[in-house]
Amino acid sequence: MSQPVRQQWVIGNWKLNPSFIDAKKLFTSIQAQLADRTDACQVAIAPPAPYLGLLVEQAEQLAIAAQDVSFVSGFGAFTGEVSAHLLQNMAVNLVIIGHSERRELFGDDVKMLQSKILQARAANLKIIYCVGESLAQRESGQAESVVMQQLDDLKQVLSAEDWAHIIIAYEPIWAIGTGKTASPEDAQHMHATIRQYLTQHTDCAEQLSLLYGGSVKAENAVQLAACKDIDGALVGGASLDATSFMAIINAFSQSND
Ligand code: PGA
Repeated sequence: MSQPVRQQWVIGNWKLNPSFIDAKKLFTSIQAQLADRTDACQVAIAPPAPYLGLLVEQAEQLAIAAQDVSFVSGFGAFTGEVSAHLLQNMAVNLVIIGHSERRELFGDDVKMLQSKILQARAANLKIIYCVGESLAQRESGQAESVVMQQLDDLKQVLSAEDWAHIIIAYEPIWAIGTGKTASPEDAQHMHATIRQYLTQHTDCAEQLSLLYGGSVKAENAVQLAACKDIDGALVGGASLDATSFMAIINAFSQSND
């Protein structure tokens, strides 16, 4: 029996970059290079929140994702918040939840993340849920148990139907922005472990896209893309350069041919 083909994704997480002027130039350049292509790979960009409105109106061959979402619902007197319903209303249908920078720097604990997941699903957003261990956790042999716990946190608040709207991004914290990438073997091993978890707990494990993140670059993308359970990349630094980002898209598009 042939394996179902999983959707490949390359998602650029711009974080708190670049300036508005540079963001418009970068976006225009990426869109121009994607024009008239029929990539097997889906492309998305997660810009800083204030740029979402402009980019979603201009987006043609790529999707626009939010980098985070509020735990509050709907519209109302919530100064400074961006709710899942507001994103839905703007046709921003994808959101990153649980990035390690949110967990470490902004106090997104499990309860907060679960509230955000519930809000996102209530607004029918697709969630890119980030998991990953610290260096200390990896060195003490806890990498897998940490990631499985993070998957359990997700599972607790999802219905069986919700799983079809989840993308998992495995991002070892020690590889983010450091130039150190997990070896393709280590990354594949963790992805296979995640897939096994999904097989046990969902009925769509073979269809779910598992992305790798952490210093993905043009130079390592082909090797990562060749791994059986790596279905794309969540790209930080290298997504701020159109040439590098396109090279990563090429690597994942070809891996699906
Ligand atoms: P990086 O970031 O590619 O700059 O390591 C990845 C991420 O944080 O999503």
